[in-house]
Amino acid sequence: MALIDKHKIIETNGTLLMVGALLVVTIGGIVEIAPLFYLENTIEDVEGVRPYSPLELTGREIYIREGCYVCHSQMIRPMRDEVERYGHYSLAAESKYDHPFQWGSKRTGPDLARVGGRYSDAWHVDHMTDPQSVVPESVMPKYGFLADRYIDAEYIQDLMSTHRIVGVPYTDEMIEVAQADFAAQADPDSDFDGLMARYPKAVVSNFDGQPGVTEMDALIAYLQMLGTLVDFSTFTPDASR
Ligand code: HEC
Repeated sequence: MALIDKHKIIETNGTLLMVGALLVVTIGGIVEIAPLFYLENTIEDVEGVRPYSPLELTGREIYIREGCYVCHSQMIRPMRDEVERYGHYSLAAESKYDHPFQWGSKRTGPDLARVGGRYSDAWHVDHMTDPQSVVPESVMPKYGFLADRYIDAEYIQDLMSTHRIVGVPYTDEMIEVAQADFAAQADPDSDFDGLMARYPKAVVSNFDGQPGVTEMDALIAYLQMLGTLVDFSTFTPDASR
């Protein structure tokens, strides 16, 4: 009974209650989170997942700049309706090189986690230029101006170095030849063997169909690789995780 009475001290003293609550939440938080920093097996390695190629990474920057994430998520949940519509549920490893990640649940438009390879480059150009021309009821804005904005790879090495700081395993070689890889991916007549060795499954194409590299090229290069890296015919999830 005496101990129960003491509880009154906390209940009638707001500051003490707050300090007490904070203490309890802190201990609980540390107990849950701290082990994750040390357990190797909390990070699942999945075959096929690789860092973005220079052109894809540039496209991803444009995706973020234009706020595509405001209407599109990139996270397929393991529920039947989602898996049937979009494909295999998203694995954490598939976005491990994403800084920042593009998950979310706000879907004004469809999830884009596996849009890669679903449409032709020309479809994407038509759709970006005038979404209503291919999906009449679409509320997606027009992004045709991206095809008029020519880009060079001026900052790509800095961008890749920055991603390396936060843990993306870009090698010195990848950064050194980034400008050449950037140009090669948008030009099917180029020598892109090195690019393919460094970034397997990269889609090489003149995405927007016009000479030169535009923001449209970069964005479509990014869209065309989304969700294509992992081979789900051979992937078996490890249920022990
Ligand atoms: C205002 C919300 C909105 C914004 C912003 C937006 N979209 Fe969309 N998007 C939609 C809607 C709605 C659809 C479905 C109808 C359609 O296909 O146009 C869609 C469809 C798509 C599709 C086809 C997906 C599929 O599986 O059929 C792609 C690809 C796409 N958007 C890419 C983008 C990109 C890239 C951006 C940024 C440059 C963007 N969207 C910005 C609303 C949006």
